[in-house]
Amino acid sequence: MTVPATTVARMRPRSLLGVLTFLGRYPGQVALCVMLLLGVIAIEMILPQILGEAINGLRQHVQLGVPFAPSVYATLFVALALVRAGLGFLLGPVRNRLVQQALGDLRAALYDAIQRLAFQYHDRANTGELISRSTTDVWRLQDFFFACLFLSFDIAASLVATVWLIFAVSTTLGWITLLTIVPTVGLIGFYASKLQPQWRNVHDLHGAMTAVVQENIAGVRVVKAFARENSEIFKFRGRKEIFLNALLDTVNYWAARVPFAQFVFGLSLPLILWAGGRQVIGGQLQIGDLAKVVFYLMAIGHRVGAVGQFTNIVQTASASAERILEVIHEPQVIRTGRRRFPAGNGAVEFDQVGFQYRAGPASIADVTFRVEPGQTVAIVGPTGSGKTTLVNLIPRFYDVTRGRVRIEGVDVRELDLRALRNSVSVIFQETFLFSATVAENIAYGRPQAGRAEIEECARLAQAHEFIAELPDGYHTVVGERGVTLSGGQKQRIAIARAFLMNPRILILDDATASVDARTERLIREGLRRLCRGRTTFVIAHRHSTVQHADWILVLKAGRVVERGSHSQLLGAGGFYAAIVAQQLQPAADVLSPS
Ligand SMILES: Nc1ncnc2c1ncn2[C@@H]1O[C@H](COP(=O)(O)OP(=O)(O)OP(=O)(O)O)[C@@H](O)[C@H]1O
Ligand SMILES: [Mg+2]
Repeated sequence: MTVPATTVARMRPRSLLGVLTFLGRYPGQVALCVMLLLGVIAIEMILPQILGEAINGLRQHVQLGVPFAPSVYATLFVALALVRAGLGFLLGPVRNRLVQQALGDLRAALYDAIQRLAFQYHDRANTGELISRSTTDVWRLQDFFFACLFLSFDIAASLVATVWLIFAVSTTLGWITLLTIVPTVGLIGFYASKLQPQWRNVHDLHGAMTAVVQENIAGVRVVKAFARENSEIFKFRGRKEIFLNALLDTVNYWAARVPFAQFVFGLSLPLILWAGGRQVIGGQLQIGDLAKVVFYLMAIGHRVGAVGQFTNIVQTASASAERILEVIHEPQVIRTGRRRFPAGNGAVEFDQVGFQYRAGPASIADVTFRVEPGQTVAIVGPTGSGKTTLVNLIPRFYDVTRGRVRIEGVDVRELDLRALRNSVSVIFQETFLFSATVAENIAYGRPQAGRAEIEECARLAQAHEFIAELPDGYHTVVGERGVTLSGGQKQRIAIARAFLMNPRILILDDATASVDARTERLIREGLRRLCRGRTTFVIAHRHSTVQHADWILVLKAGRVVERGSHSQLLGAGGFYAAIVAQQLQPAADVLSPS
């Protein structure tokens, strides 16, 4: 997940441009915003002119008796100020809408990417890390969008216009302004660039601190079971200390240096008053014109400070943009094919299949077999022998690294991915239920399913009985804020889920591991019905499960070592017979004396 520092530096500008394209999707609104903003800035530049002209007019009236109508200036000033307020009033909603739309699109793109990324990506990714990218990093970009759209224009247009207008009044005063603004902006830019690596460090430390929180929430039961609360609290405090110190160092560095830059700019006012005052006394400059310059300096004072703010925002955002785009641009390793799911009952063929996880030895090597439509195959082997890995290749949770997996003679990589996944149902080793009602959880793969169908599937999975006893029956909310279900109950909901999908191919990864003997018998009856006419793979540790299979595939270290029926294999007295003796025993054996 971490990117080498050199790559970071190289990627940065491209990342920022990358997220700016999300704003670029709304060119009309961007243009409207910029126009409104330029209108506001133009009026801000005109107001000092009116004040200055009024002062000049008043002076000529007093000294030379030239007629002077203050109401003209006052009316003009108030009218423009009102227009400016009006523009600002219009700008607010347009700007907020634009930024929120762009952020919304960015969130959606990120979410899509996370959903589409293959198992392979999620194996490597850290959940806390992905959560922080989808939340904190997106929030940081909000400031960036505001800064790019507004602060950047505001700073650039106002500074350039101001310097130009001051030059128009007096070249000398123009030079004084320029000679104070340039070093100030340069100094702020220099300090900000010094801070760049420090900010990156602060973000990373923040990430590390968040990871501790996330892990503790996810693993709170383990923490409590081992009475490790205090040490976890201590660990968090440590991370928080380190983060806080780094943050304070960074902020203090900035706070200690910016006043110096501001002091340089602050010199402009006394210098201008001194030089301008001499010009006024010498008669080369009107008093009103000097006033204009002073007003301009006051108007841009806060924008000089904003240069630093802008630089900070851009630096923060560039790290976040990079973290977000990394996910969005992660290549899709599993691409959908174009062929429709073939007719037939789902013959599955493994042809010299090999598979290797990203790093590590081959988990599956040279596996060849054919399952006829409607057959049930049991896959047996010691833990880590590659049973789960093998079946994961059928719905393309991973793609083979060698050989082919075919369904009805068609390579699974050529099939439409959605159709493939809808035709192959998997009941995982661990069932995940969403924070939704029981009915919604059962209908997860086919949300349009009717209540009668859902209930029928629940009955088939032997789940109806316990669901009916829940406080709100099928409308009971499970998960996070609802009722907690037992392992066996979750399994049965997962089985009902599979029933509802009416899949051609069924994969059961230890599906009955967590149910008692009675429930297992009931489920087995349901499963027998479910398996009828479907090709079924059952990964089993239990004796009873394996016996009912048409034939058995025995895996050892990723290779098929034996195949045949239960009785054939037992008779052969090989590896299978040995694991039956050792492993495929009723769970109650744990308690019996050895
Ligand atoms: N996501 C993964 N990334 C890398 N290696 C993995 C991954 N999943 C499994 N492995 C490795 O692949 C091998 C086979 O694992 P697999 O989960 O298929 O075994 P299994 O037979 O299903 O075991 P169990 O009976 O314990 O479920 C193991 O060596 C395991 O460490
Ligand atoms: Mg497994």
